[in-house]
Amino acid sequence: MDKIKITGGNRLNGKIQVSGAKNAALPLMAASLLTDDTLKLSNVPYLADIVTMANLLAQHGVDISFSSSSQQYGKNMSLRADNIHNFTAPYELVRTMRASVLVLGALLARFGQAKVSLPGGCAIGTRPIDLHLKALEQMGAHIELAEGYVHAHTHGRLKGADITFEKVSVGATENILMAASLADGVTILRNAAREPEVCDLAHCLQKMGAQIEGIGTDTIRITGVKKLSGCDHSVISDRIEAGSFAAAVAITGGEVELLGARAEHMQAVIEKFTEAGISISETERGIKITSDGKIECIDIITQPYPGFPTDMQAQMMALLCVADGASMITETIFENRYMHVPELARMGAKIVVHGASAMIRSADELVGAEVMATDLRASLSLVIAALAAKGETIIHRVYHLDRGYERLEEKLSACGAQIERMHDKPNRPFSMPEAA
Ligand code: EPZ
Repeated sequence: MDKIKITGGNRLNGKIQVSGAKNAALPLMAASLLTDDTLKLSNVPYLADIVTMANLLAQHGVDISFSSSSQQYGKNMSLRADNIHNFTAPYELVRTMRASVLVLGALLARFGQAKVSLPGGCAIGTRPIDLHLKALEQMGAHIELAEGYVHAHTHGRLKGADITFEKVSVGATENILMAASLADGVTILRNAAREPEVCDLAHCLQKMGAQIEGIGTDTIRITGVKKLSGCDHSVISDRIEAGSFAAAVAITGGEVELLGARAEHMQAVIEKFTEAGISISETERGIKITSDGKIECIDIITQPYPGFPTDMQAQMMALLCVADGASMITETIFENRYMHVPELARMGAKIVVHGASAMIRSADELVGAEVMATDLRASLSLVIAALAAKGETIIHRVYHLDRGYERLEEKLSACGAQIERMHDKPNRPFSMPEAA
């Protein structure tokens, strides 16, 4: 298993091209199931999760091809679902990536049947899909849970319905947006998610012929159509990747321009950086972060968009480990998203967790250590801490990182970071032979 070695203390200066957003590309790829035409996506980040979604769609029968992009990072992708012969999303794929559940709405809406493995829990929380299933049942789907699978079918088309989500859910909003686009009648989604990634999906669906109003608001109205067509769509840039790099520059000191970053998608994050004394300004090509490495203590509460994103919580926690004074973070979205705390503590961080809140006291300095990544964003918080730490840090299990950050070492070392990937060959006298 690969690991990453970082020697801390270097300031970061230069430019970084932000990749397309993982959390936009995944539902956009699933949307290809809604039509027998070709969906062409550009600015697709080349990540482990994208490859998993491609394998999932291919086993349904989607004809997929990747081609190199004119951009420094990312790929172009062509997806054509004109020969779908399998309606099952198998456990072995779904368990590796929960977003696989996003095929459910599209399969059901176009083919009237779907069998999707229940995703099960994950490191950051139980993450049920009850809101997805309740909404599909409201649209007339027959849903049964058996042997760890959702078995769903409809008699004829799904029906439009007036749906109020008990909780704001990105995935449930995306699944029902896709299902309602081909349903018979009008669907209204209340308390819907407003994330830019949800809007990117809705804009692409509109290009495919869907009738959607209220994009970006918490009440979305979809008038179903009988058929959707293909389109060309460019994936929005990744606001979480951009925010992660901003935290890295903030902690090391320096000046970096994040090319392609969209400030309008990052307001809550930019506000918190500004409160912490970090200068962030818009440029023609993105945003620029300037820091002298001095950080003010702040308080953060994670919330659905446009509130502060939970996917930036761990990265900000690493930054606040060296802030002047005590900071408080409250995580309201996931019940178990502090797995990075004991790993940061190995580097000298002073963090106390009480239920959903964590108090971060100023550590005089962070010191390099061997640490373990536990989930995608936690792994980035360890990278940020290591960039500022005294000495060397070794981060294990970086496969978590590869799920959501494209060529991270290349991007950071281009700005002066001392970071390298090590391909781990454990020198143990005995090891289990490779399975035949
Ligand atoms: C999306 O996950 C993102 N993933 C997550 O990013 C992100 O953390 C999350 O939204 C919140 O912003 C992708 O887009 C692929 P939710 P999703 O449904 O859709 C509860 C990353 O790091 N809930 O908005 O799974 C749920 O348990 C990942 O890139 C139900 O109770 O999140 C959670 O507490 C991690 N029932 C809350 O709602 C449901 O049916 C929000 O979950 C659905 C959700």
